[in-house]
Amino acid sequence: MELRQVLEKVLPPNVLPHAPKRFEVVGDILILRLRESLLPYASKIGEAILEETPGVKVVAVRVGAVAGEERVSPLVVVAGEQRTETAHREYGCLFKVDLSKVYFTTKLSFEHQRVASQVRDGETVLNMFSGVGGFSIPIAKRADCRVYSVDLNPYAIRYLEENVRLNRVEGRVIPVLGDAASFTPPVPIDRVLMPLPLKSYSYLDHAARTIKSGGTIHYYDVIVERGGSPIEELKRKVTGRLRELGVEAEVVYGRRMRSIAPRRSLAVLDVKVRAQFWGE
Ligand SMILES: C[S@@+](CC[C@H](N)C(=O)[O-])C[C@H]1O[C@@H](n2cnc3c(N)ncnc32)[C@H](O)[C@@H]1O
Repeated sequence: MELRQVLEKVLPPNVLPHAPKRFEVVGDILILRLRESLLPYASKIGEAILEETPGVKVVAVRVGAVAGEERVSPLVVVAGEQRTETAHREYGCLFKVDLSKVYFTTKLSFEHQRVASQVRDGETVLNMFSGVGGFSIPIAKRADCRVYSVDLNPYAIRYLEENVRLNRVEGRVIPVLGDAASFTPPVPIDRVLMPLPLKSYSYLDHAARTIKSGGTIHYYDVIVERGGSPIEELKRKVTGRLRELGVEAEVVYGRRMRSIAPRRSLAVLDVKVRAQFWGE
């Protein structure tokens, strides 16, 4: 579907310049962000999209910024079936989600696979901010491992439990409801995932306490593009903090993932722990 062409049919020319250029489809739900000036046209837009996109059963509009600890923004259905729950397939994994209650995006699909492809049989993994299992499920499908998967949103844990059953990874993924900082895994951890970009830094002490020497931390953060090399700055910030925490570490991979606001981008670092000095 060419969004622009659909919108041209239903919007008066004076508001057309405010029309969205992008949309996201999760399962059979299409999600748009609309400026306030376009809200009066929301259901017209939704109906027109439904006609043009056979697989889509619901059109919904995000009406605020991603907010709160759960990282969910309000969602309003504007056309089609009145529901916000769907099932999304990604690289052979099935994710059941209620998009009004939990964080989920298709924009992380490459990253989910990139991390999952590194996990080996026998590893113990801690996913500190698991959501409905975007990382945990593909990891557990690819390797005979254990993935402690923590989230403080009870809905995320409920859907994670369902996704564990749907993807037949019982026993490999262990859902844990609570604050990542309060969960101490029963064994030392080979790999820690920290997919909470705005706050990961403040949880590095917890990651440092749980990770084994030789283990890997997948660290997510927001970088500000203001000249220089923000990825290099991020590497220094994270390895410096880890050193303060008694962990000697080396960044073995770093990437700017995508833009999230003017001059702000998401970034990932894979950090290999070389040695630990805490307790000495
Ligand atoms: C960006 S989302 C994670 C996305 C998920 N990893 C995925 O790939 O789909 C961040 C998640 O962290 C959870 N969260 C926020 N603060 C937390 C905390 N202190 N402890 C545990 N979970 C937390 C939120 O509820 C949310 O589900």
